[in-house]
Amino acid sequence: MNPALRSDLLTWYRLHARDLPWRNTNDPYRIWLSEIILQQTRVDQGRPYYERFTERFPTLKDLAQAQDEEVMKLWEGLGYYSRARNLLKAARLVQQTHNGHFPNTAEGLEKLPGIGPYTSAAIASFAFGQAIGVVDGNVFRLLSRLFDIDACIDEGKNRPVFQALANELIDKEVPGISNQALMEIGATICTPRPKCQKCPLQTHCLARERGTVDLRPVRKKRNKVKEETIDYLILLDGSGQMAIQQRAAQGIWAELFEPLHSAEHQVQPKLDQWHIDHRLTHRILHIRFQLCRLKTEKKPTNKHIIWVGADQRRSLAFPVPVLKAFAHWDL
Ligand code: ADE
Ligand code: SF4
Repeated sequence: MNPALRSDLLTWYRLHARDLPWRNTNDPYRIWLSEIILQQTRVDQGRPYYERFTERFPTLKDLAQAQDEEVMKLWEGLGYYSRARNLLKAARLVQQTHNGHFPNTAEGLEKLPGIGPYTSAAIASFAFGQAIGVVDGNVFRLLSRLFDIDACIDEGKNRPVFQALANELIDKEVPGISNQALMEIGATICTPRPKCQKCPLQTHCLARERGTVDLRPVRKKRNKVKEETIDYLILLDGSGQMAIQQRAAQGIWAELFEPLHSAEHQVQPKLDQWHIDHRLTHRILHIRFQLCRLKTEKKPTNKHIIWVGADQRRSLAFPVPVLKAFAHWDL
């Protein structure tokens, strides 16, 4: 490895790093929290969530003692809700079985719920100074261009190729900063449409030299986006209580709350209808809402239906398009 590459990387980072709240701490709890939030989430979207979480739960102990529903409510809108469930599981596990101390190696961290090779390396290097490469999606892209690698980044079997390069790039004096620097170039310069003229590594970049930048990284063909339709029934009684239910533990929006599915209930008359399209990573949802008010005193019930007033409803976590429907009718 050319040592000038390493020093160009660090010099650039010291001049250009964004000032992000989780970069001003060595606290493994805060670093862990930020990395879980930033999995599959852009920095500008995740940052306010990080700030609300650290304000409400300043320490691991605070989070470990939290009510599940409050954590889900704070997570509302971030998506991939299993991250929030695993967050709580891991917090309680570390609090109860590790005396509140996170394991200080990537190997130990990876045993915790919700922590894979990327997140374990990030926490181990940022919080504990372990010299292990942090290979997130941005770093995969950067490395495949910098070293002109034609191995597909979506195939697990190729991960060791990239992991070894990332490990080698680390400056052992400052492992955390080295990793942040690679991630930062990947996130801000070596983006899907790279800004090579501004890149501090352009003189070291093999893909640039060979004219293969646009061919890297090699990716699998994406599956087509699926389209699905959901029919909701927003059922209100005379006092404004709403019938809701909790989603299953599997699938999208796991364990969030939602209105009833109108396809399953015969309702007359229809008060009003509203429609929205909602984009998830691999699908588009066409969602139709029907708003209905009960005329009779007798409410439909079964073991799944929960009748909630507005106050209780506001403390529960719902999918974003459902919140938009509530806002549409000012419910
Ligand atoms: N994305 C994931 N982890 C990050 C971090 N620590 N800083 C900036 N962006 C990130
Ligand atoms: Fe990426 Fe261009 Fe920099 Fe190479 S020169 S690392 S392709 S931004």
